[in-house]
Amino acid sequence: MEASTFILFGATGDLAKRKIYPALYTLFLDNKLPDSFSVFGLGRREWSDETFRANVERSIREFSRHEAIQDEQLNEFLEAFRFCILDAGRKDDYVKLLRMVESREEALGAPPNRLFYLSVGPEFFETIAFQIRESGLGSANGWKRLVIEKPFGHDLPSARELNRKLSEAFEESEIFRIDHYLGKPIVQRLEELREIDSSVRELWNRPIANVQITASETVGVEERAGYYDQAGAVRDMFQNHMLQLLMMVATHLPGAVGVSSERSKKQAMESLRPLHKQEAGAFVIRGQYGEGTISGKPVAGYTSEPGIAPQSANDTFIAAKLRIEDDFWSGVPFYIRTGKRMKRKSTRIVVEFGETDLSGLSAAAGKAPNLLVFEIGPNDAITMQHVPTGSPQTGKPETIPVYIPDRGSLPEAYESLIYDALLGDPTFFVRWDEVELSWQWVQPVLEAFEQQLIPLRPYAAGSNGPDASDALLAEEGHHWWDNE
Ligand code: BG6
Repeated sequence: MEASTFILFGATGDLAKRKIYPALYTLFLDNKLPDSFSVFGLGRREWSDETFRANVERSIREFSRHEAIQDEQLNEFLEAFRFCILDAGRKDDYVKLLRMVESREEALGAPPNRLFYLSVGPEFFETIAFQIRESGLGSANGWKRLVIEKPFGHDLPSARELNRKLSEAFEESEIFRIDHYLGKPIVQRLEELREIDSSVRELWNRPIANVQITASETVGVEERAGYYDQAGAVRDMFQNHMLQLLMMVATHLPGAVGVSSERSKKQAMESLRPLHKQEAGAFVIRGQYGEGTISGKPVAGYTSEPGIAPQSANDTFIAAKLRIEDDFWSGVPFYIRTGKRMKRKSTRIVVEFGETDLSGLSAAAGKAPNLLVFEIGPNDAITMQHVPTGSPQTGKPETIPVYIPDRGSLPEAYESLIYDALLGDPTFFVRWDEVELSWQWVQPVLEAFEQQLIPLRPYAAGSNGPDASDALLAEEGHHWWDNE
């Protein structure tokens, strides 16, 4: 891997502490960092290099997935870290940073390859990109990359505007938009399913009845009231993580690939039937949690959470029925739901197979259905619930492991994504056209929410969301598979 400098905006923040430093440490242990590698942490605090290193060390001791941290290795790792006080809007600070980076590159004999990681609030994205360009930090004789976290805009117009501003400083091929769901091991594995499909092949002879994508959480709004009350489930999870999962499934399931191996996530998104805001209420369910019980403990309702206005009409749950209109997926509903304060923490995709003339097995006839289940978190597994051909009389399903990884061997999402960004591999990052298409789909829904065309339905904390989300599936004779 080419030598490079990792320039981290927001080095004193929570994401850096919980995810970025531990991920870099694992990459270091796995020899996946370049030989000449430096990290410049940036922030407004008056930290020295020593204070910075002490904080990085604390974060690794607290959050690393490695239990036995060896002092010698850790110290060697920390030598790469330097701190530079920087106010995102101050031109002079970037000039000072440039000098520091250049002198470090010179000392190491390293080329000016620079990765700028924006682990800061979205209000700083444009300013930072502008200052990187103006200061000359981004115009050296090496490569430059911008790694950026969500939220990418607040709606379609703001996302377009942000993209326009960023593209004044970086080419699209230099922008690595992180959606950490794309770094999750099972999601990354979807792409390889066509190679391991011998065990699932029998299933592919059957029509797909529906696809269900769930990301339920037990946590509530936590300490993020200011952000979350503006974003809601629709912007926080649906527009990005959930639609990315939908694109991944629609693109990579073996049958879909059979249609054309050249399909892209973008094509799946383009084939999504658009919603008009007047009809959105028939396809989208919106909810907000009230008080209830999680793991036996009573918890407050959303509007009683600290920092949330008692009259807030923000959504903490969203379920939707979507259709992809192409040769393979036409007629197959995609059901998506995500919410806070639900019954369990679970991210999973269930593909339900329907009746088939081939084997005579049929869910409709009261027999067990055939399911392909992707458990994305907190467990990682791909399993099949399957009634083998030849035993149609009993109709008893077997659970067949398709892919059960050894948990300890799995990389954290941020490890995979940071490694790919350092390599310059864009496969698991979000392209602008995908962002734009997802906002395009979501925009009428946002408008329907604002104009109160879709009712905000209460649900009890600790439940599976509003009843209307079950009714959405029942209309077509389906039900959620993990509601037990
Ligand atoms: C984040 C959202 O992107 O994803 C959070 O902002 C959410 O609200 C989190 O809790 C869920 O991620 P994971 O990896 O725990 O499923």
